[in-house]
Amino acid sequence: MAEEYPGVDRTRVPRHVGLILDGNGRWANARGLHRTQGHAAGEPALFDVIQGALDLGVEWLTAYVFSTENWARDAFEVEFLMNFNIDLLQRRRDEMNEQGVRIRFIGNRDDPRVPDQLREEIRMAEELTAGNDQLHLVFAFNYGGRVELADAARAIASAVATGNLDPADVDAGTIGEHLYLPDMPDTDLVIRSSGEQRTSNFLLWESAYAEYVFSPTYWPDFDRHVFGRCIAEYQARDRRFGGAEDRSESN
Ligand code: IPE
Ligand code: IPE
Ligand code: MG
Repeated sequence: MAEEYPGVDRTRVPRHVGLILDGNGRWANARGLHRTQGHAAGEPALFDVIQGALDLGVEWLTAYVFSTENWARDAFEVEFLMNFNIDLLQRRRDEMNEQGVRIRFIGNRDDPRVPDQLREEIRMAEELTAGNDQLHLVFAFNYGGRVELADAARAIASAVATGNLDPADVDAGTIGEHLYLPDMPDTDLVIRSSGEQRTSNFLLWESAYAEYVFSPTYWPDFDRHVFGRCIAEYQARDRRFGGAEDRSESN
């Protein structure tokens, strides 16, 4: 298996990796296909990367699958994506469960634009896999970092209004406790495919000190090997968290 992930140091694997899976539409366009066929082609890529995360012992993998801004796409594409997510959960949940994957969701599933059936599939997948701990697989669905922070601010404001929280006690930890998954660790590495170099509202709070790796590969061409190379690139970085460069080896 070492051969499969050349350059990856298994003792320093990032604990939480975020994935901005981008480039499905361009992948399809380049082949004269419809954008939706690009989304379909992205599914095996995602599940191969999940396999890579399991192989390497990544504990948390968060995949950005639908943003709060993606409602702006045409109705046909949005409807395709909703049905695709229903279908994907139905087809994949048992295999994920057998591999010890815990499926979780962040984002606003209660939005009336989200089909009831998808809400139900999300609930079932979470319930089925709730006892697993090999990998937390988080789908960021109808997710936006700003909305997540606004939701946290609202919850904090109401705790203050009911007298359960003193405004003087609100600090960065309080915000963290009011995010969608308070037990989710900060992102160590965010990978974005397709060559775009922006966050597009993904895990804004959680990625404050994440390393970013931007891969030119369109998402449907991604696999565990590309994922491994992104991890090797991450491991070559010097994470300083505001401290000074570690010069202990040269001193
Ligand atoms: C990412 O691929 C998938 C989603 C945002 C749902 P895109 O659909 O954004 O593909 P491009 O960026 O248009 O190529
Ligand atoms: C980000 O990709 C959202 C997801 C991957 C779900 P987009 O393709 O929507 O982002 P922009 O519009 O290029 O910033
Ligand atoms: Mg895109």
